[in-house]
Amino acid sequence: MRIIVTLFITFEGPEGSGKTTQVGLLSEALIDKGWSVLATREPGGTRIGNAIRNLLLDVDHTEISARAETLLFNAARAQIVDQVIRPALDAGQIVLCDRYADSTLAYQGYGHGQNLDELGMLIHYATAGLTPHLTIYLDVVPEDGLRRKRNADTPEWNRLDAKQLAFHQAVRAGYLQLAAADPKRWLVIDTTQDVMRVHAQILAEVKRRLGKRVEEQL
Ligand code: TYD
Repeated sequence: MRIIVTLFITFEGPEGSGKTTQVGLLSEALIDKGWSVLATREPGGTRIGNAIRNLLLDVDHTEISARAETLLFNAARAQIVDQVIRPALDAGQIVLCDRYADSTLAYQGYGHGQNLDELGMLIHYATAGLTPHLTIYLDVVPEDGLRRKRNADTPEWNRLDAKQLAFHQAVRAGYLQLAAADPKRWLVIDTTQDVMRVHAQILAEVKRRLGKRVEEQL
């Protein structure tokens, strides 16, 4: 009997929370153990998504309207779900995604004050209802996160980073609210700890979830 485990894990967090590093470490650890893993990111991950990403993160595009921005993030999301995430899950791969629908709720909803119910409907449409099994939230206070990002070896400063500190504080508060509302799906991790300690906590939780899902199939 071949056991197929479907596991869709998303990583969320404010700027400079170390998501990309942790996606890489988890992906390596799982591949080492023989799992088939697909790691991707939003916005991007597809040709269409990368074109939308360039449009969204261009520092010159200051006139973009809030609704246009939301729709573009969700257009990129619909593309990555249909073209990459859904097929990989159907093929039995573990999918890791650096940002997903909760970024829209945190940034466009809590950050920009767009209506959360309307965003929920839009996300449902864009994802065709695909919800992560586990969402890892890497917590960092905006002051530290923005500082870390500026000091990185290859600083990637984009239009959205340049927003006021208050915006980033609202984003973080939004994430914490989302996590508190659904503790079964969310794992909140304090990133003031060493990178490898953060990784160890993530890996322990993923192993636990994998064990449960394998058991369900036996
Ligand atoms: P990126 O360079 O990928 O930043 P990070 O390394 O922090 O993920 O830029 C993505 C930016 O887009 C980031 O500021 C968060 C923002 N974003 C939204 O506002 N809404 C969304 O739905 C998504 C996916 C991202």
